[in-house]
Amino acid sequence: VSEFIMKRCFGDPILDVMNFLNQVILENPQAISFAPGRPLESLFDVENTFKGIYNYVQAEAHRSSKPTETVWGSLGQYSWTSGFINQTIAKQLFHDENINVCPESIIITVGAQEAMAILLLGIFDVNEDVLLVSDPTYVGMTGLAKLLGIRLVPIPCGSNGVTAEALLLAIGKASSQGRARAIYDVPDFNNPLGTSVPLEERLKLLDLCHEHKLLYIEDNPYGMFCYDGEKLPTFKSLDKRGSVLYIASYSKTVFPGLRLGCLVADQMTSEGGRLALELSKVKSLITVNTSSICQCILASALASNNYTLEPLVSPKREYYRRCRDILLDCLSIEFADRTLFDWNCPRGGFFITLTLPFKCDSEDVRRCARDYGVIVCPMMFFSADSNRNSQVRLSFSYLAEHDIREGTRRFSRFCQERIRQLAYGKRV
Ligand SMILES: Cc1ncc(COP(=O)(O)O)c(C=O)c1O
Repeated sequence: VSEFIMKRCFGDPILDVMNFLNQVILENPQAISFAPGRPLESLFDVENTFKGIYNYVQAEAHRSSKPTETVWGSLGQYSWTSGFINQTIAKQLFHDENINVCPESIIITVGAQEAMAILLLGIFDVNEDVLLVSDPTYVGMTGLAKLLGIRLVPIPCGSNGVTAEALLLAIGKASSQGRARAIYDVPDFNNPLGTSVPLEERLKLLDLCHEHKLLYIEDNPYGMFCYDGEKLPTFKSLDKRGSVLYIASYSKTVFPGLRLGCLVADQMTSEGGRLALELSKVKSLITVNTSSICQCILASALASNNYTLEPLVSPKREYYRRCRDILLDCLSIEFADRTLFDWNCPRGGFFITLTLPFKCDSEDVRRCARDYGVIVCPMMFFSADSNRNSQVRLSFSYLAEHDIREGTRRFSRFCQERIRQLAYGKRV
């Protein structure tokens, strides 16, 4: 029946990536999973963060000279489409990312995911526009684009992510298909690769975007998780010509149950209106407004930390840094033959890319989970490029130290078996 009622794009495997991985996890509850890019629950402190709502109500009652019951009542009501903590968020973006925008240029969204939906629905004309995406790409963006019928042109990534040279080639390719409207990338501690775009390249990419009237959609959920060296400036903070649309997520810095993110769209439209205001029309038709209760919780957490996420992030950063170091250490022990295996050493974020001497697909994931008790995520799930077929994404954010060690041992045993099979020219 589904053949007749579902859109054709439902046949695209990209729409099944999350379901597939969840199913493998459910079928193998004993398996150690390097698959989910989730933050670790024990780092959340949900109860205390939630209590901040009382501080918010007191402060708001005082500021507005309204009774607290009135403020509580307003939290149960529908609310402003673009949000009401925009001033607080503007201060946080300035403190943490050196992004200097007015509150009216910000839309408070239901996670980064809604910001992507608002952009694709609001700025893409399906018949004309093409979206350029770093390849491999986060499926939240490519899956959604496919669902909406937006044409995609991949930009193959190198060891430092997207280069200006690769972008220029992709712009040329896109011109035969329509108008290259925007590029989407996660330039800091990329999901899935773990790569970061160097400063010099950022400047070249911005020049190129300006030259070709291309918007740069910067998705930055991991930027504050920098483990070595200096954090690089965001594209948005470098952009002086209105090329960048910026997406923030509070899922990794606070916790994902809040479902909060924001979209910064400080450009002016050709009619002289503020882009954020125009895009809020899209939001009004998909989620109406972002939960007032969740907005208060975040505003209170920020107000009590001088409008920076740093005190909330720093213990998390230490934990994840340690997990990354343990995983790198385990890889060098368990995958010691560097003629067969290779991996990158990301400076931050949640992910490492491991290259194997064989193709790794969903059948391998199933068998590895069932017979070896470990789950990894094939890079081919995120990529149109067959050169990625023998890579896997290892996420180190959701595992305890002993599980990282044991999981790497198990995956190494699986790989040894696959290599032996290859030597005998068969696949079980
Ligand atoms: C690159 C990227 N963008 C966006 C998201 C989704 O963020 P949110 O939970 O704010 O919707 C994720 C989550 O894993 C991500 O990795």
